[in-house]
Amino acid sequence: MESLIIAPSILAANFAELGSEIDMLNASQAEWIHVDVMDGMFVPNISFGFPVLEAVNKRATKVLDVHLMIEKPERYLEAFAKAGAQVLTVHFETCPHLHRTIQQIKDLGCIAGVALNPSTPVQVLEDIISDVDLVLIMSVNPGFGGQKFIPNAIKKTKELAELAASKGLTKLKIEIDGGVSMSNAADLIDAGANVLVAGNFVFSSSNPMETIANLVKLGN
Ligand code: DX5
Ligand code: ZN
Repeated sequence: MESLIIAPSILAANFAELGSEIDMLNASQAEWIHVDVMDGMFVPNISFGFPVLEAVNKRATKVLDVHLMIEKPERYLEAFAKAGAQVLTVHFETCPHLHRTIQQIKDLGCIAGVALNPSTPVQVLEDIISDVDLVLIMSVNPGFGGQKFIPNAIKKTKELAELAASKGLTKLKIEIDGGVSMSNAADLIDAGANVLVAGNFVFSSSNPMETIANLVKLGN
């Protein structure tokens, strides 16, 4: 298995102190910084867009993992890549021409990901999984940080790991997003997850750097 990557979600950061929050992540064992973009259409919430991503990119020394919870994401892929995204993940539910969208992301030189809502089964990926670099399993309904983990995500992670193995895909990134904490991280890793997003669990803890280090340790 690839080594475990922790991707703290800055949706849970203190935006009034975003620079120092990024400095903390730079100094931490997090390899990626997860950036949640929401449009108020695909999901019932609006987060932030290009100016914030550009500012984060100027300060961050880590990989920017951009999760697009927006309709018709193909309109903005190039702009997100230019703003600093190195991982670009689109939702299966927003992409009728997913194969084309994935190729667009790869042509931009980014790691190409597809995300699945809790109600979307892993099996829909049968004919695209060999073309993607990353699958993101939502373990909450997208739109908000700080929600309760949906345990069915563990079963889906296992199914995804089996599907990947059946296709001989040894490098697939399996990312879990939503409600991740010490109480489910080990089960997710056992099931095959190799990227864990954590928002509130990291930023609401008394020592975020230590919390990140504790999550990283689970992968050793
Ligand atoms: C939810 C977002 C998540 C969120 C995770 O729509 O995709 O990335 O920020 O936050 P926690 O870990 O607090 O559930
Ligand atoms: Zn996310």
